[in-house]
Amino acid sequence: MVSLTADMSPLHPDRNLALELVRATEAAAIRAVPFIGRGAKEDADGAAVDAMRAFFTTVNFDGTIVIGEGEKDEAPMLFNGERVGNGKGPRADVAVDPIDGTSLTAAGRNNALSVIAVSEHGTMLDASSVFYMDKLVTGPAGVGVVDIRLPIGENIRLLAKALGKPVDEIVVSVLHRPRHEELIREIREAGAGTRLMSDGDVAGGINAARHNARTDMCVGVGGSPEGIVTACAIKALGGHIQGRLWPRDDAEKQKGIDAGLKVDGHVYEADDLVKGSNTIFVATGVTDGQLVAGVRRDGGYVYTESVVLRGASGTLRRISSEHLVSKWL
Ligand code: FBP
Repeated sequence: MVSLTADMSPLHPDRNLALELVRATEAAAIRAVPFIGRGAKEDADGAAVDAMRAFFTTVNFDGTIVIGEGEKDEAPMLFNGERVGNGKGPRADVAVDPIDGTSLTAAGRNNALSVIAVSEHGTMLDASSVFYMDKLVTGPAGVGVVDIRLPIGENIRLLAKALGKPVDEIVVSVLHRPRHEELIREIREAGAGTRLMSDGDVAGGINAARHNARTDMCVGVGGSPEGIVTACAIKALGGHIQGRLWPRDDAEKQKGIDAGLKVDGHVYEADDLVKGSNTIFVATGVTDGQLVAGVRRDGGYVYTESVVLRGASGTLRRISSEHLVSKWL
């Protein structure tokens, strides 16, 4: 149960920060519009990064990017370690994904999001030296029930029982990749259905953890940064998330070890990915998806839809905005 007293106390990062950050994801999504379906994913990402960075300078906080667009030399802006915000408010760790689903955006496909996640300073795991993470995400029914160490068929049966529905009504999201061929076969053999995602496992994880969503579980190997970002949202949804780093070769394994990460199949629980529950997750739809609608231009207006999740209160808010195009030119 949410403690109202706890939620009334001054929190760092606080609730106003969540709403301020939406302006940055809205801006990133709007600036990506000219690139939707134009086949140029770097240009789409670049426009979103520039917009997000510009808005960050106006936000009252002292953030450090833990999960950014990469190392300083490779990413001119929003690189890991960069300080963001006007430096005046609370200190915080920040993860940005100006577009999760750059290929989706370039192709004009569904489910691309612009995302920012924030947690208290020093609480976010920097898993960026290992590109991939194996993840298991469910809603609250899976907490204390499923475990990434178990075979997928067993997790499906356990979750179906906890949800009180037959196995054949369980739907599992998984990125459609050759590395998941065996996993997809096992899910279907267990009697569950799959929802194969071409990209975008942040949206996939959140949809699996949401109340009354069309999917029940999101599994498989996706980006490590996306795993941390998803964990910030799952804290607010009361769901289950576990991750296991998935180095591609010995060199990457060593890079992970050098960075202090556990790369030997160690299971990172939700609290290892992001400590505590004072997290903020904001996302604006770039293209249409199950979670939010994408940016839409109609005459002199641009419409955006966003979600704001706060771990401290366990709320998911939807924000629909109308923006005057003339103010954006
Ligand atoms: P981008 O926005 O960088 O294109 O990432 C999209 C994404 O699908 C993530 O959601 C996912 O975690 C990751 O890529 C999977 O990586 P890969 O495409 O290499 O399997």
